[in-house]
Amino acid sequence: MKKQIEPNRYLISFDSHTTSHVFTDVLVIGSGVAGLNAAIQAANNGSVLIVTKDRIDENNTAYAQGGIAVVLSDKDTIIKHIKDTLDAGQNLCDKAAVRMIVSKGPKRVSELIDRGAAFDMEDNQLVFTQEGGHSFPRIIRAQGDSTGKEVEHTLIRIVKENANIKIFEHTFAIDLITKDNVCHGVIAWHAKKGNMLIWAKRTILATGGCGQVYRETTNPDVATGDGIAMAYRAGAILQDMEFVQFHPTTLYIAGAARFLITETVRGEGGILRNKKGERFMINYHPQAELAPRDVVSQSILKEMQKTDHTNVYIDVRHIPKKRLYTRFPKIREICASFGIDIAKDLIPVRPSAHYMIGGIKVDRLSRTTIKQLYACGEVACTGMHGANRLGSNSLLEGLVTGYTSGSDACKSIQRSNRELLPYAIRESMGVSKISWLDLNDIGNSLKSLMWRDAGIVRDERHLLEAEEMIEMWCSYVMDKEFSHPAGWELQNMLLVSSLIVASSRKRKESRGVHHRSDYPQTDNIRWKKHIMIKKSKF
Ligand code: FAD
Ligand code: SIN
Repeated sequence: MKKQIEPNRYLISFDSHTTSHVFTDVLVIGSGVAGLNAAIQAANNGSVLIVTKDRIDENNTAYAQGGIAVVLSDKDTIIKHIKDTLDAGQNLCDKAAVRMIVSKGPKRVSELIDRGAAFDMEDNQLVFTQEGGHSFPRIIRAQGDSTGKEVEHTLIRIVKENANIKIFEHTFAIDLITKDNVCHGVIAWHAKKGNMLIWAKRTILATGGCGQVYRETTNPDVATGDGIAMAYRAGAILQDMEFVQFHPTTLYIAGAARFLITETVRGEGGILRNKKGERFMINYHPQAELAPRDVVSQSILKEMQKTDHTNVYIDVRHIPKKRLYTRFPKIREICASFGIDIAKDLIPVRPSAHYMIGGIKVDRLSRTTIKQLYACGEVACTGMHGANRLGSNSLLEGLVTGYTSGSDACKSIQRSNRELLPYAIRESMGVSKISWLDLNDIGNSLKSLMWRDAGIVRDERHLLEAEEMIEMWCSYVMDKEFSHPAGWELQNMLLVSSLIVASSRKRKESRGVHHRSDYPQTDNIRWKKHIMIKKSKF
């Protein structure tokens, strides 16, 4: 790759002689669906510590609305779910990973139900919804549009009942500790306790996605790509970083946070209309509103340009009010807080960054290319989604890969039967002055740049512009040593953005969520392959 940013190995200076030490068999970084399920499995034999940078329940998982795609209906089949996933992935899925995750999904979801997760039922049966790209209604949900919250809270309850699991909230993992390509834990920071070296026999990264690198995103503030950046600095191989999924319908009200309007609103009959009130998706795809997400997002952009308007609208006024209010209580509440009654008014929406398909390359057991380091959930790239993720497949992936990583970490500790051996480590950064840096300003400029130049539609000129700007910002941000999360997050976001841009420049074709207006065709001869990135200098 031409201009790959080469960050320092560590973001901060530290010395094991003067830093406090914590020991655990398994360290899990992140407390979404993947991290929590990993912790539960790892705790079957040994001590587990979960480190999470905010409250335990602040993550992408908690905001998930639509549901979990899983084969639990007698009329559905694993083969159909696999086929739908492969079709969406446009020739880039890892078939074995898809087969593994889809076929293990029903067991993982059933375990969750057995342990108290309450998914919506009618006549004592789970209810299933349809989403774009699924050939069968296989999406289960909770409280209408609060699936993630139910999953998260069920897992948190199980974790808190487990005496083998400790939780450190508001603890920021800064960098992985590695030696000779083996991971030994992490250097982390807590506002009151300061820096700590956490030594672990196995480390599991479950830090989620990086939607925050874009101005428009469905992701909460914590999604700054820290895990991807940490793994890259430590020398792990990353894969598919150009594939960022944009969700077509996020509530668009200037000044309001970008709240997702779930795809199941369209699954239940919601219609997309442009500024003139015209239904437009029928002009773009035979599946209209339920076309794949990339098609819907690109069509919305075209309609916004055509009508010279900031957004389009979802129309659900034809759906009976009672059904609407019980099916989408959260959406009703949020819209009402902006004076929109979803039964009477059009809902203003536009696309935004939603999900990182790429990430840390892992094998079928969630092992990364660094020994003793696992990755699961959104931070990992299992290859399940290929070039485009089917809606509701990622909670499933998080549940399954969380389970796999936790249980393999636990088994491999038993197999190797080795004691934890901390060693002396001293890292020193050449510090340059921070004095005038306005981190918010750089962060906001980065988000706008990424939205404009590396967003839904990309081309060489804009990607090059992004690359040069990021390189310029890196030249005076990456050499600084910060002592707080805002600085580290900015450094991680710059690094992750540079990797997205570099991979997007490299892939000179359009496939799935990666759309290049200068290379609009899919090129199966040259590009039916993955782009891998690894830091070259240590
Ligand atoms: P997350 O749930 O994001 O958890 C990551 C954790 O890592 C967080 O706790 C975070 O605080 C912690 N962390 C990050 N960096 C650090 C650090 N440096 N130190 C310590 N801790 C750190 N998928 C579906 O399948 N169905 C849906 O209906 C659905 N709806 C969605 C709706 C929204 C609004 C969003 C944003 C996503 C949705 N998705 C959905 C996608 C899905 O929710 C996520 O892909 C999935 O929850 C990711 O889970 P995870 O455990 O990998 O990461
Ligand atoms: C949604 O509810 O539309 C989001 C589902 C997903 O991202 O999987």
